[in-house]
Amino acid sequence: MLREAALGLVLASGCARDWRTDMWYQPARQARETPRLEPAGSIPLFARPRLDDRDDAVALRAPFAGDEISAERGRAVFRDRCAGCHNLDGHGNGPVGRSFPPAPDLALDTIRAKSDGYIYGTIALGGRAMPPMGEGLDERDRWDLVHFVRRVQGTIPASQGCP
Ligand code: HEC
Repeated sequence: MLREAALGLVLASGCARDWRTDMWYQPARQARETPRLEPAGSIPLFARPRLDDRDDAVALRAPFAGDEISAERGRAVFRDRCAGCHNLDGHGNGPVGRSFPPAPDLALDTIRAKSDGYIYGTIALGGRAMPPMGEGLDERDRWDLVHFVRRVQGTIPASQGCP
């Protein structure tokens, strides 16, 4: 009986599909490879796209709607991360502007004309003078910020308002 069992084991291990190498030949992504996209219909985990340059982000789209809840979350993140330069209302002239290149009014037509992805890319990688601000912000925070910037752009630029 014992002999048959041992023989069975030897035969089984001679199988063509060796279970010991299953983990080796798996479709895993290698280090520093672009993460796989989330399959359609799956619960979003907000895997972050890899960006080397702001231009890579121009065509990106928000994975969720820019509704009131998102914009209000964005307002809170904006207050913590952006208001020092862009001011609480987003119309520029924040206190950091006294010792740093002044940050523009986000309602200006030139910025209004940019795509959502471009604004997302600016947050992640910074601009010509703006430092990268993505650190510690997850996908949701970043797109909430984009949605808040769009709300600021629903108002008129400070320079065109009443004195
Ligand atoms: C240290 C100051 C500073 C902080 C903090 C800062 N910005 Fe800026 N931002 C600037 C300056 C200066 C510019 C204009 C020059 C440039 O494009 O880099 C700018 C430009 C921008 C533009 C327009 C870019 C373009 O090319 O037209 C957007 C949009 C923007 N900022 C959004 C944000 C958001 C959102 C945050 C917060 C996550 C933020 N900024 C934080 C200084 C800052």
